[in-house]
This record gives sequence, C-alpha cells and structure tokens, in this order.
Amino acid sequence: MNERNAPSRGLAGLFGRGRGRASGGNADDGSAMLKGRHIIEPGNLSLPELDGLFDLAESIVKDPARYSEVCRGKILATLFFEPSTRTRLSFEAAMLRLGGSTLGFAEPGASSTAKGESLADTIRTVSSYVDVIAMRNPKEGAAHLASQYSSVPVINAGDGGHHHPTQTLTDLLTIRSIKGRFDGLTVGLCGDLKFGRTVHSLAKAMSRYPNVRFVLISPPELEIPDYIIAKVFKPSGVQYTQVRRLEEAIGDLDILYMTRVQKERFFNEQDYVRLKDSYILDAEKMRLARPDLCVLHPLPRVNEIAPEVDADPRAAYFAQVRYGMFARMALIMKLLGIVEGGGKKG
Ligand code: CP
Repeated sequence: MNERNAPSRGLAGLFGRGRGRASGGNADDGSAMLKGRHIIEPGNLSLPELDGLFDLAESIVKDPARYSEVCRGKILATLFFEPSTRTRLSFEAAMLRLGGSTLGFAEPGASSTAKGESLADTIRTVSSYVDVIAMRNPKEGAAHLASQYSSVPVINAGDGGHHHPTQTLTDLLTIRSIKGRFDGLTVGLCGDLKFGRTVHSLAKAMSRYPNVRFVLISPPELEIPDYIIAKVFKPSGVQYTQVRRLEEAIGDLDILYMTRVQKERFFNEQDYVRLKDSYILDAEKMRLARPDLCVLHPLPRVNEIAPEVDADPRAAYFAQVRYGMFARMALIMKLLGIVEGGGKKG
C-alpha cells in the first residue's frame, strides 16, 4: 500500500476510545526548554520543539487520563479583546482537562479596558495572578507588547491580521496526524489569503519542511501579501503557483485549506459583499479531488464549505477543532515546564 492509499491515522485515533496507558516513554524529548517562553508567532518554535510538542499532543490524544492532573494548582488567563469560540474555549478546556483552572474575559467591555486601562497595565496585573496568559487582540503587535510586560508566558491567540500561532499548531498537528508527514505535501490555500492570519502563519510554518508546494487560490483582491512571497516563499525556495479557480487546482492537492473572507478586516462593505462567496466547496468540486485529500478550515465558516461536504470522510475540519484542544494542552504543559506524571523540568 503506498502512502496515498494508506488509511488515515488521525481520525480514528482522535475520536476512538483511549487505548489504555501509553507505553510509558517520556513524550518530552529535550524541548523542555520551552518553559517560561512567550509564543507570539509560529517561528518562535524550532522544528525539534514542534516535534516534541506534537509527540506530547499525540500522547495526550492516546491517553488523556494520564494527564488529567498535571496542571493541578496552575491558572490560565484567557484575555479576549476580540470574539472567539474555538480558541478561547479550547484553551480553557485544555487547562481544565489538565487539572488546572482558568479565569479571564471574553470581551474587553467586561474588563477595566473599558475605563481606559492600558494593555501594559492589564498584563502586569493579570500576570501577577496567573501562571500563563492566552490573549487575542485586534491590534497587530499586541501580543508582542503584552509579552514585554508579563512575568508569565504569553500565548498569542491572534493579533489582528498578523499571527495565530496556536491555530498553526492545530493545523500542523492535524496534518501530521492524518497524513503522517509534512514533507512533499501539496497544500492549496483557498479564499482570503490577504487578511487571513491563519494562512500567513501556516504558509510560514509549512515552508520550513522539505518539498512542500503551495497552490494559492484567491481572487486578485485577496492574494497573499507580497511579504509572504518575498520573505517566506522565496528565501525557503518553496514552490508556489497562483490560480483563480478552485476546480483547476483541487485534483492536485493533498491538503485543501479553505478560509473565510474576513469581513471584520474590510474597510468597504461593498467589496466584502462582492468577494465573500468567491469560493464555495461543494460535493461537485469534491468529486474532482483525490480520494485522500484532507480538507481543513480554521473555522468559523460562513458559506465557503457547503454543509453537504461535512459527511465526506475527507472533511477534517471538525477533527481539526478537537486537535486544537490537544495542541493547546501540550503547549500549556511545555510552557509551564510540566512533564507527564506531574514532574517538572527546569
Ligand atoms: N479558528 C479560530 O480562531 O476560531 P475562533 O475565532 O472561534 O477562536
């Protein structure tokens, strides 16, 4: 059986029942130096650190009970200055499933930001109460600023159109779990490649692996920013092509990463309305795709994937949601210097 026909590893493992205790091997592999670090963009993690993180996440997927107390006594703050369902709740679920606790706010109106408090003072305050902070903020660079005032690790949960590193960890863990590798994959990025921060982060992260090819599928107005081409694709030598029609490209792809047109980043409602339905993945287009295509979407979706695709075994976006929680569990453990069994590494 060649790799293309190999059964998907990921979905069964993810949704199946735990298979008893993991082998006892230590999932930590020398990436314990993550303790105390801030995670502002995907490039903050080296490839060995990513491998160690994904090994730990996969170990948690296999035997979550083994990790259910490792963060007892630790507190995560989720500071969300912008709306979120998956990122905030998966961070909170991650900490709770590790035995820790959470506090925070889901919108800035519920904090003293509404009274004019600066981000620096908010972070100084919160970091004196908790062990780790996950923050989303509409301003690009806000997470970096927060890290300069925090006495505990800050995890960027999205800063404007800039970065969303834990979405990238989610995407990479999903790809690794389903495809078993990163190298040699042809990745289609489809939709709003201009404003979609998850696209920028994933493009950067996947460009670090050998022989990855990108197919950039967007209308001219939503093309990937020039700096990604100039500073990411060209220096890494990664191959890329730009096309306008999804039908042209879908048959060549290992991964199709669909994205929502980012209404909140448009200055002009008319442009949004004109572009919002540029691409709609439906059953007809899926018939043109390979049998082992993996369809991802960071979610939320609006119209860009028809609900009829959800039942297709190649649709992995709800599995991806669940991998996000496991990726964040592994990241929290690493940043707190916690190894399995509740021990600690310095
Ligand atoms: N993928 C993602 O960031 O989703 P939320 O905006 O719901 O957190």
